[in-house]
Amino acid sequence: MPLTATGQLVDGARAADTAIVAFNVITLEHAEAIVAGAEQAGRAVILQISENAVRFHHGRLAPIAAAVTALAELAAVPVAVHLDHVQSPELLHAVEGTGISSAMFDASTLDYADNVSATAQAVDWAHARGLWLEAELGEVGGKDGAHAPGVRTDPAEAAEFVAATGVDALAVAVGSSHAMTDRTAALDFALIGRLRETLPVPLVLHGSSGVPDDDLVRAVRAGIVKINVGTILNVAFTGAVRAELAAAPVVDPRKYLAPARDAVARTVAHLVTTIS
Ligand code: G3H
Ligand code: ZN
Repeated sequence: MPLTATGQLVDGARAADTAIVAFNVITLEHAEAIVAGAEQAGRAVILQISENAVRFHHGRLAPIAAAVTALAELAAVPVAVHLDHVQSPELLHAVEGTGISSAMFDASTLDYADNVSATAQAVDWAHARGLWLEAELGEVGGKDGAHAPGVRTDPAEAAEFVAATGVDALAVAVGSSHAMTDRTAALDFALIGRLRETLPVPLVLHGSSGVPDDDLVRAVRAGIVKINVGTILNVAFTGAVRAELAAAPVVDPRKYLAPARDAVARTVAHLVTTIS
């Protein structure tokens, strides 16, 4: 299937009153597992590569982007590829020619005026190339961005931010927190509803690994359109690796990577079936 554009998957989910799930890719096995899980469930999916993942790959986007976009093109379901949590304009500019159709530009740790200015420049650059751009609005003066525990997005400020920057979607702070390994986050559903009423663009939930299944479903009903998931895949991946290594003195990495990939695929299939 040809590579699908992120904007098309987000628009389709919004029109259908559901959500598209975007999963973080670190290794080739993550991407293979996410596509396998999406195919098992018969759901479209977004593969996202973060700036941190690019850093892990020695700062090079091109090799991992080539592998991920090739897998997306071979998938039996629609798959888009997205660059996530980009802080560096140089890395944003490196998406040109990779097949990546969108990015999340993360200037949320800057103060409000600087976030608006940096995000507006990123939007202008992206839109001139037909790319879809998501951004994040952090607490004014906040050091940890929008997804630190306790931070909330103010609807009026968010509306002003969207109008001033021209972003295609907004990551909102509604109670989730990045990198949780238990699913105990408590979302503010009333705030999600107010943000949906106030903002003209789709809402994105980050840090979704910490949100229980039922609350992810409620969040979609309240107005979330894109759900970003990372850590829960690594809980599955590393748990399977640990179990294999504890069971036998294996040397061949395929002996533990294959069950890890299967565990991630099962997690992906479960989440996309639950959410959409
Ligand atoms: O942008 C990526 C997501 O926000 C992933 O968050 O690892 O807490 O699921 P998570
Ligand atoms: Zn995130």
